[in-house]
Amino acid sequence: MTKAFNKYLITAALPYANGPVHIGHLAGCYLPADIYVRYLKAKGKDVLFICGSDEHGVPITIKAKKESISPQQVVDKYHQIMKQAFADFGIDFSYYGRTSSETHKETAQAFFKKLYDKGVFKEEITSQFYDESAQQFLADRYITGTCPKCASAGAYGDQCEKCGTTLNATELINPTSTLSGNKPVLKETKNWFLPMGAIQESAEFKNYIERIDTWKSNIKGQCNSWLSEGLQPRAMTRDLDWGVPVPLPDADGKVLYVWFDAPIGYISATKEYLKQEGRLDEMESYWNNDETALIHFIGKDNIVFHAIIFPMMLMTHGNFNLPENIPANEFLNLEGDKISTSKNWAVWLHEYLTDLPDRQDELRYVLTSISPETKDSEFTWKDYQTRVNSELVSIFGNFVNRVAVLCQKFYEGNVPTPNACTNELYLKAKQTLTTDVNESLTNMENNLNLVKIRDAQADWMNIARAGNKFLAETEPWKLIKTDPETVKTILFDAVQLCAKLAISAQVFLPKTAQKLAAMFGVNDLSWNGLNAHHIVLPGSALGNVEILFKPIEDELVEVQIQKLNQKRTQVPVVTPEQSAVKPEISFDDFSKIDLRVGLVTAAERVPKADKLLKLQVDLGFEERTILSGIAEFYTPEMMLGKHVAVIVNLAPRKIRGVESQGMLLMAGDGKNKLVSIIPEQGIEPGSEIK
Ligand code: MF3
Ligand code: ZN
Repeated sequence: MTKAFNKYLITAALPYANGPVHIGHLAGCYLPADIYVRYLKAKGKDVLFICGSDEHGVPITIKAKKESISPQQVVDKYHQIMKQAFADFGIDFSYYGRTSSETHKETAQAFFKKLYDKGVFKEEITSQFYDESAQQFLADRYITGTCPKCASAGAYGDQCEKCGTTLNATELINPTSTLSGNKPVLKETKNWFLPMGAIQESAEFKNYIERIDTWKSNIKGQCNSWLSEGLQPRAMTRDLDWGVPVPLPDADGKVLYVWFDAPIGYISATKEYLKQEGRLDEMESYWNNDETALIHFIGKDNIVFHAIIFPMMLMTHGNFNLPENIPANEFLNLEGDKISTSKNWAVWLHEYLTDLPDRQDELRYVLTSISPETKDSEFTWKDYQTRVNSELVSIFGNFVNRVAVLCQKFYEGNVPTPNACTNELYLKAKQTLTTDVNESLTNMENNLNLVKIRDAQADWMNIARAGNKFLAETEPWKLIKTDPETVKTILFDAVQLCAKLAISAQVFLPKTAQKLAAMFGVNDLSWNGLNAHHIVLPGSALGNVEILFKPIEDELVEVQIQKLNQKRTQVPVVTPEQSAVKPEISFDDFSKIDLRVGLVTAAERVPKADKLLKLQVDLGFEERTILSGIAEFYTPEMMLGKHVAVIVNLAPRKIRGVESQGMLLMAGDGKNKLVSIIPEQGIEPGSEIK
């Protein structure tokens, strides 16, 4: 983004209302957005900061099934929790809406209708999996089966989470409906498709997409790879019962695709906000105005939707700004692993505040220091402790505290009056200070303009570093005995620096900035102050002097690490996939299955298949080769010599070119846990299991 704007519409991805917010969300999207918004506001720009809960889509209905409550109850619950967590961490949205609101429904429907009336959509009949007993079409996430690539069980209709392959539901081996446990059938259905390939060729799109060259490389890379493959039409409606109903007469049981309705949430939330403020007439000035910059903050998994699909929707609709910039972030990992809601591997914001009350700025600081701007980064509690203790406490906190304490000690808590002092030592130190601080301020501002918030915060900390150096060089606590006049000037300068730290801290550490401003009597936090010579007047009284940051003790870190590991080892919650009971079968059906005890006599990994083990199993009457998708849970050594339960009359299947002549019985949730079913006591291979 090169042009300077006076008006901004900043959005942060609407989080799914199916779970609380964790540090990954904060670091990846909401914190950088908030810092950028606070910066623009401090500079006096006209900014709307829009977010809200994404309350439609399959993630919500799955959660509802899991918790045995209705989708509406799910979103009501998590909308509140998320809204509160954002507020607690100072994420300063102008408005936090929700996509189940009436205004949103109307707005999304009108948007769809406009595209429909313009003839944008292609109507297409396709075959989709349908669950006959549940009488509904199945979203990809409601279909599981064996992955055709890696042969592991529990792959979803859109993706195998084991090997990461993107799938079509129809490619799954043995597809099963998670609603009933039945095999789904293919059934024809009509939906409305956005012809993305055709739009890609339009002059308007080509003109728009040129601007990605000025954006971050992760977004450029993803877009270019999508575009060079050629875009396929994508259905903007779905056969589902949770979502915004398709506003057409022949569309019973169909809703808008969640990625069609959710980004429209930015528009409807703006509308709700302006209406609430009595400024509805300004809608166009934010959304349809060359002077306003539309900027989307997102995580990398949202790139294609914000950089390609939503702009296509906006341009085919007409009368909307297209995004000026999309500062997409990479992911934050936690203690060596991917953050995972289902594995409970996360630091939840609400839990953080229970365990570390009042320490939101510590977390903001650390997450910004490790902001995954250019590549995935990692949060560890140890690193959290180090950054808090050696930076916030020892550099920043130490500087401002020393200044305040010296003012209390020497000047009864007032700001001293400077004079034209000629002390050589002071003059030299002041020169260095001015140079260092000006350089840091300039870098900080440049980095903020470029949304490089991690670097910007490091520049901010350098200001405090320069302050400490200034005090170390002039040693006012010693000089007071020999040259008290110069000490007045030194501390006056130091107080002004504290004021500058307060003004600039407001974007990174809003609570701390308030405390610091109160401490040194800074009444006006506007960004201009950074260029002023004097912010705080001589003779003015300091406010309440307090310690801004306390060190994080080892014990606290240990407790947090322990807590994480405990949660992870807890037995995973029972998922609906597991609990769905398959339809009844007769005893005859059951006795068709020939189950035997087998002894594993050899075991090895299968090259290039991370999940597979190749086993030789002695069944008493013969030896068989069996391929089993258990390599994530069992090494060859663990399997060797084990008695296992084997289905011996299952039709052989070729996997990776090898014929598998049977199947082992395993218990698990299809994802996080898998254990073999073994006879309780030693028993001859070949014994029947019944
Ligand atoms: N709910 C989506 C997610 O968490 C993000 C939606 S962003 C919006 O990945 F643009 F659709 F709003
Ligand atoms: Zn797979």
